[in-house]
Amino acid sequence: MNKADLIKKFNKQAPMYERNRKAHALGPWRSRLLRSARGKILEAAVGAGANFPFYKKDLVEEIMAVDFSPEMLRKAKAASQELGIPATFMESDMDDLSFPPDTFDTIVSTLSLCSYADPLLVLNQFNRWCRKSGSILLLEHGLSSNSLLAFAQKRLEPVLYRFSGCHHDRDMMRIIESSELEIVSVQHYWAGCMHLVWAVPGK
Ligand SMILES: C[S@@+](CC[C@H](N)C(=O)[O-])C[C@H]1O[C@@H](n2cnc3c(N)ncnc32)[C@H](O)[C@@H]1O
Repeated sequence: MNKADLIKKFNKQAPMYERNRKAHALGPWRSRLLRSARGKILEAAVGAGANFPFYKKDLVEEIMAVDFSPEMLRKAKAASQELGIPATFMESDMDDLSFPPDTFDTIVSTLSLCSYADPLLVLNQFNRWCRKSGSILLLEHGLSSNSLLAFAQKRLEPVLYRFSGCHHDRDMMRIIESSELEIVSVQHYWAGCMHLVWAVPGK
């Protein structure tokens, strides 16, 4: 799918992501992951701000929230105002984003690596942009560790991608493990489809 069509697709999904935010979808995982998010934070592909209810406000200095969908950003902005989250917003493709090294204390990416053209490149950028004392927090999905489910995901990939704009057949842990990040801790859920990862800058 070309970029313009992908953006249109995510624009259309923004109301659904807003409903999910209000329903605290995946709340226990988001809460567990984000309780240590602190300082100057990059939220990559923020969507409608689904993580905003779970930040510990007293630990947050500022969130730089990036997404290429203007409709998602509009909803995330409204959420930050409603919840009193100090955030600034940037409409950009993650692939085109550039920050100086050591810019952020925490980098957060939830359900986002599935849609980038090159998720490994983005993870390695996280590695550069994160301060050495900082952390990278991921909640990402991918190919199941159950072979039957993985088979079904591979077969359904073209339909699922056309419908959602996300790839469901990526071996997400392999991608994360092959990045420059140093993984500190991992939890797997939903037959190995869903991963919570706590990482720090490596190399
Ligand atoms: C599945 S949603 C996840 C949103 C949010 N992180 C969450 O946890 O609910 C994926 C988000 O990534 C954004 N996105 C996808 N590809 C992107 C890219 N290349 N650059 C910037 N944002 C992108 C979409 O607009 C969408 O908001």
